Amino acid sequence: MSFEWFEEVDLMVKKTERDRLKALSILDLMAMKQSGEKISCLTAYDASFSQIIDRAGVDIMLVGDSLGMVVQGKKTTVSVSIDEMVYHTQCVTNARSRAFIVADLPFLSYASIEIATQNAAKLMQSADAQMVKLEGAHIDIIESLVKYGVPVCGHLGLLPQSINQLGAYKIQGKSSKDAKKILEDAKKIEQAGASLLVLECIPAELAAEVTKQLKIPVIGIGAGVDCDGQVLVLYDMLGISMRKVPKFCKNFMETAIDVSEAVQQFHKAVKQSEFPAIKHSF
Ligand code: KIV
Repeated sequence: MSFEWFEEVDLMVKKTERDRLKALSILDLMAMKQSGEKISCLTAYDASFSQIIDRAGVDIMLVGDSLGMVVQGKKTTVSVSIDEMVYHTQCVTNARSRAFIVADLPFLSYASIEIATQNAAKLMQSADAQMVKLEGAHIDIIESLVKYGVPVCGHLGLLPQSINQLGAYKIQGKSSKDAKKILEDAKKIEQAGASLLVLECIPAELAAEVTKQLKIPVIGIGAGVDCDGQVLVLYDMLGISMRKVPKFCKNFMETAIDVSEAVQQFHKAVKQSEFPAIKHSF
């Protein structure tokens, strides 16, 4: 065998390693949408899990305010503070090399443009988040954050921070009026400059329509298989959650020997459009 052959293999190995370690940016997520590559996303709250998720190749880590429920044992996400979000985001970013980091702005931390700007600064400057997520169609807030250079992820459908208004965690957008509103809000959020959108607990057909009409990537949770990507709460997909696991979730530990393998299986299943299946959709 010639030296050239070895050199070629060596270069290929180095390129694969470089690609594995290259930190993902907003442009990579857009490229995935455009090429039809599914985007995998898991929530993360600490450094140890962050390292496992990152090494498995998962594209996005969301430091979700779901930490109030799965880490702190609260009944809702309402009590989570911005300082707690900053702390957990720091833990996650400390151990990350490749995955794109989105951090939640918690309940009432974006109640005005001024408050939202100050809190987005905390997540991005003190904790290295690459994007902030906020629930609902708060167009003026999104426009203002984007104007100051803050990448924003919208969140529509079931809005857990509004649980005290909703009364129960249940599927949204079932009536044609509600579905139309979600589609219109999604378009407004995109026009306001958001770069990503999470759709939670809505009919698969509606999520498919939103995904088709938007240019930005749409990440679903309980929103069927046709979104550009999928997110799950880490503790739910590892089967260690204290709460009743929703129908759209799958316990990947059932077929894995350890946490790393479960996370790798989730990543692969999303990339190959094997998760979610029809039984996980509404
Ligand atoms: O807080 C969170 O974990 C979330 C996901 C459910 C999308 O917002």
